[in-house]
Amino acid sequence: MKNILVTGGAGFIGSAFVRTMTQRYPNYNIIVYDKMTYAGNMDNLLPVHDEPNFRFERGDIASRASVARVLGEYQIDTVVNFAAESHVDRSILDADAFMHTNSIGVYILLDEGRKHGIGRFLQVSTDEVYGSVPVGFSVEGSPLAPRNPYSAAKAGGELMARAYFETYRMDVLITRGSNTFGPYQYPEKLLPLFITEAIDERKLPVYGDGRQIRDWLYVEDHVSGIDTVLHHGASGEAYNLAGEDLRHNIDVVRALLERLGKPEALIQHVPDREGHDLRYAMSSEKAAALGWQRRFTFDVGLAETVRWYAANEWWWRKIKTGEYLEYYKRQYAARLAAAEE
Ligand code: NAD
Ligand code: TYD
Repeated sequence: MKNILVTGGAGFIGSAFVRTMTQRYPNYNIIVYDKMTYAGNMDNLLPVHDEPNFRFERGDIASRASVARVLGEYQIDTVVNFAAESHVDRSILDADAFMHTNSIGVYILLDEGRKHGIGRFLQVSTDEVYGSVPVGFSVEGSPLAPRNPYSAAKAGGELMARAYFETYRMDVLITRGSNTFGPYQYPEKLLPLFITEAIDERKLPVYGDGRQIRDWLYVEDHVSGIDTVLHHGASGEAYNLAGEDLRHNIDVVRALLERLGKPEALIQHVPDREGHDLRYAMSSEKAAALGWQRRFTFDVGLAETVRWYAANEWWWRKIKTGEYLEYYKRQYAARLAAAEE
């Protein structure tokens, strides 16, 4: 492993991976390849911009010619694919980009990777491919049963990755991370949206009764899990990376309000997300057997995350303009109005 292509490396988790890997492995060359959608942000890569082992190329994983050029030019031997459309609510509004990137893009990346004879290919996937898990914990052999356009398109991508292992014996690995949070997360997901809105004392739109359950994983733990699987995982295998810290959404919201010293009166229950998955829960015993262990509890991660957003308004205030405001209106205006009636 020497020249690692990190696709989607300007997003939330990808950039955290790049910030860690450039430091931890100075002898690896880290090449970020990113389309720079609304979620791609060069500010996320500022801390590594001048590192000698860091390069950036703009491009789409679904563009064959562009992928082929970068694989050849940098003599890529390893691909870690973070590139995705990642927000469930946006996938419910319009799934085109989700199919393009999360399914077709993964296929193109695999296919060009095979033609260029690359070594390891790690596909970053999600616990959402198991669908809603009413009781118990998903293990890697549990059926994939995605229930929304985002997770269905992600399942398509990882199934193709598996097909490339079975058919061409390509050295493919899959990680399935749980709900990830931490600094530099785009303020459309629950935690960064609600932290930044609460700072401005705006209403926090909780879907339905807020009794849905998510398993929370701090971003640094997600990154260390991917690093572990990349170096020690067995070819063709999938590995769950779970926080094993399950919370009801409403308790997450109460905890962040308490940390910020803001009133619970900001909570506004709004009409539920369509097809809302009630519960995600996985076991990560298999990754633990590779030596991975999460270090941050939800409470410790939340304290750090709230501190970071409070201290880094420069990062998120400029995002909350333009396209972001249009999306916010489309997603929330009618919901908030319905709730107030
Ligand atoms: P993100 O939305 O913050 O970042 C996605 C990045 O991919 C952006 O930089 C974007 O510009 C880039 N991108 C999008 N389409 C592209 C394309 N066609 N070609 C090249 N680049 C493209 O997402 P994230 O939260 O950092 O998630 C990263 C990965 O981890 C995704 O694959 C996601 O499915 C997975 N994941 C996320 C979570 C979570 O809670 N955020 C949990 C488990 C798994
Ligand atoms: P989200 O961060 O979108 O992640 P995911 O849907 O991938 O789990 O949402 C986390 C949970 O929070 C999910 O159950 C939906 C809920 N949620 C709200 O109640 N209100 C919101 O405005 C958002 C964005 C999410």
